[in-house]
Amino acid sequence: MSPRKKLIAGNWKMNKTSADAVALAQEIVSAVGKQTEVDVVVCPPYTSLESVAKVLDGSTVKLGAQNVHPEASGAYTGEISVAMLRAFFASSVILGHSERRTYFKETDAFINQKVIASLKGQLRPILCVGETLGERESGSTLRVVQTQLEGGLEGVSKDMATSVVIAYEPVWAIGTGKVATTEQAQEVHAFIRTLLGKLFGETIAQKIRILYGGSMKPQNAPELLAQKDIDGGLIGGASLEARSFLDLVNAAAAVK
Ligand code: 13P
Repeated sequence: MSPRKKLIAGNWKMNKTSADAVALAQEIVSAVGKQTEVDVVVCPPYTSLESVAKVLDGSTVKLGAQNVHPEASGAYTGEISVAMLRAFFASSVILGHSERRTYFKETDAFINQKVIASLKGQLRPILCVGETLGERESGSTLRVVQTQLEGGLEGVSKDMATSVVIAYEPVWAIGTGKVATTEQAQEVHAFIRTLLGKLFGETIAQKIRILYGGSMKPQNAPELLAQKDIDGGLIGGASLEARSFLDLVNAAAAVK
């Protein structure tokens, strides 16, 4: 049995009005809001954080955000701080998602600032790493993942490290329906855990959860979640409907 509790996180991306987000959160809470076997996190857009937080209140489902700015306050038009997220009782934040790296030109150094600010503010970073199709085809997957992981975790102390969650999201598998094979995913997850061991020591590396993300669906989840180093999923498309998201939570609960 894995020493790590499985975690299923829904990344709703730029989807759902506040009313739609509340309806989805209500369905999730009524189905899995009392269970404690699997950690469940939903990450709505900023505009729905407050309304979804009210729905989650008193349940075991936790609130996450999709991004944060590293500065505490100031002239950063359009940005949101750690303290603002904490005020809604958000407990996690997705950082370094490939969509932010690609469309918003986020660098490892900038992502690292967010990781540090989040940890200092008691917000759990879900740090995303992953290679593009071209990088995989040219044989540089592990090098790319190593650069993103080490860059993103620079300056993170051993004390803070157990609060971090890593998400391995091969870019070519995101929203494409092309899921990584269990061998491909497990290989990179094991590699990430080895790197975490070098950074923080083996005991801590064994405690850090590494999620898989990229076209994870109820059909392919059981096999992925059964892998030794796959501790859960960061779910895009399948998190937008209660039925498929709940099936994924149940699939994680079924893994022994
Ligand atoms: P899909 O599950 O839609 O492929 O998205 C994965 C993802 O990017 C989660 O952050």
